[in-house]
Amino acid sequence: MAVPPRRGLPELLSIFLLAVVALLAGAARSEPDGTQKPIDSFSSDSARRFPDLPVLGYVTPWHSRGKQLVEDNRQKFDLVSPVWYTIHAQGDGYEVQGGPPAQEDEEWYRRLQQAATSSAEGGAESKPLQVVPRFMLDGWDEGDYRQLIFNATRWQMLSDVVLDVVKEKGFDGVVFEAGAAHALPQSLVTLSEALHDNEKLLIVVMQPIRTPGGEFDALAGNQAAMIEATNNMILRALPQLSLVADYFSIMTYDMSGPGGRAVSQRDIKNEKMSEAAATHDIREPGPNTNAAWVRENLITFIEATDPVMASQQQFQAGSLEALQASRKFLLGVPLYGYKYPVVFADKVTGKFIKPTPTIPPHEHAMMTGAAALKNRPKIPENAKPIMRDAGEPITAAQIADLVKEHQPDIFKLEPEGEYYFDYQPHDNGVWTRVFLPTTESMTHVLKTIKDVVEDDLVYSFGGAGVALWEVGQSTEELLASL
Ligand SMILES: *[C@@H]1O[C@H](CO)[C@@H](O)[C@H](O)[C@H]1NC(C)=O
Repeated sequence: MAVPPRRGLPELLSIFLLAVVALLAGAARSEPDGTQKPIDSFSSDSARRFPDLPVLGYVTPWHSRGKQLVEDNRQKFDLVSPVWYTIHAQGDGYEVQGGPPAQEDEEWYRRLQQAATSSAEGGAESKPLQVVPRFMLDGWDEGDYRQLIFNATRWQMLSDVVLDVVKEKGFDGVVFEAGAAHALPQSLVTLSEALHDNEKLLIVVMQPIRTPGGEFDALAGNQAAMIEATNNMILRALPQLSLVADYFSIMTYDMSGPGGRAVSQRDIKNEKMSEAAATHDIREPGPNTNAAWVRENLITFIEATDPVMASQQQFQAGSLEALQASRKFLLGVPLYGYKYPVVFADKVTGKFIKPTPTIPPHEHAMMTGAAALKNRPKIPENAKPIMRDAGEPITAAQIADLVKEHQPDIFKLEPEGEYYFDYQPHDNGVWTRVFLPTTESMTHVLKTIKDVVEDDLVYSFGGAGVALWEVGQSTEELLASL
């Protein structure tokens, strides 16, 4: 449900200005001035707001400012996963490709693995971070999966190629990602044993549990059935996987992205909106994640692993600690937004609406500070946005540029705390709705996770935290909410 930002506008404005300022500062910092930031310069004034929730941050080579953000905010992280490696099925075995792109990446992760002292007053210590690069199965077809699933020799081969890299590079473990990790339990047992024998961590990436036919997802019947089937496979694999994984990284983002269909161009042309709506052939864009969905995932994952707990307690009283250490759920938190090309339809009649220029209320002008934009077309209150094409991820930097350029009214979604705005490119192009994460949406997710962890004495599972995808698309402000 969308709530116009009538209250709290100054607050909203400040969030945005902060984000923009941070981006500008970030851009200035990454100028190639040749000076390497000293390792002891992290700021010690931003303590963790949720110290009991472990934080994993992904860092990709294609948004490499993430490296600096992690280092500047290292007290906010426990685990850092550079996205560097792919595993390929090659002839009779497996081959790992990739690695730190340059010498400075190598030096970067080695610095993270050392404790650091703040130069700020007080000289707080930052503990060593655990560097656990992601290894992803790449280009695998069904045959490659089948060969691995049923062949113990291959479990060992896969484990060997990964462990060789981990040992050679001195990593603290790995994040293992496959299209369907839940289909590879035996292989993961072998990998886990090899890693644990060397005191290394195994983090397994899991698909989230999706709810077919949610508010933003009017799905056809067979799509819903496929989602159900995937959910069931994931949950069935969990008891076994939870014995071998130190953490699960659960991809609770792209909630509204995949699945569903956009309204067809034919319907747009024929104004057949209500017809399309009746057959669920339309989709409204929605937020990237929300706390309710995250909570549902966490509880479902906890409950799915509970039988293990029960049987272990029965047979090995006192093994609780070992188990607790082996089951931590890191819920995915997106640090990027989404933009969707949309058309607007009247909520009641289903007719398409063309936004027309109006004079925005004073408060909006205050927010945008843009007298020049008074004639901006305004989306009528009774309009419902319909996707006319697939959405695309968008970084915080790109969002800040759009906000600066179009100075849109920005709305808040309750209860997610995510924000959105609409803009039309200056060439009268396709209207676009942008969803973006904020400190508020992140805090809401973190609080939700904390509540489950604190409530869950019944399960006394190993705990939960967050996995951030990905730090390079973020801002200092988003990271400050950790
Ligand atoms: C298992 O994999 C190995 C290595 O690729 C291969 O030599 C062997 O024939 C496979 N075994 C079976 C039963 O397919």
